[in-house]
Amino acid sequence: MLPRDDAPAEPAPEPLSARIVVCSSCRGPDGADARPRPGERLAAAAAQAAAGTGVRVSAVECLGNCKRRLSAAVLSQTGWSYVFGDLSDESGPDLVLGARLLSEAADGIMPWRGRPDCLKRGLVARIPPASILDET
Ligand code: FES
Repeated sequence: MLPRDDAPAEPAPEPLSARIVVCSSCRGPDGADARPRPGERLAAAAAQAAAGTGVRVSAVECLGNCKRRLSAAVLSQTGWSYVFGDLSDESGPDLVLGARLLSEAADGIMPWRGRPDCLKRGLVARIPPASILDET
């Protein structure tokens, strides 16, 4: 059955606690300056994969991880945050899965089990939330 024009719109999902930030400036292995850059394509793929999930996706100019090529981060408000490199412009769904795993993790740590391979091999750093540093 098709939705009627006067039917109420589906409510937007609540934002999850994790957010993806993609470097849209990253170039491909050949270093070409052509647009859209692979980083832009990765940001678009992540946004498309995140549609309807509650995962928010943002793009920034540089994450300072240029030597590891396509880069993105999964940030958490209350848990750990993660920086990844060596991604491909097809890693968008994997970033969304990682963000969802992190959002659902009671301990605030992205679980290794179930984490996509590119988020295992491409891990650059994990950063604790400032709140736990205040507790020590
Ligand atoms: S240009 Fe992408 S991390 Fe610097």
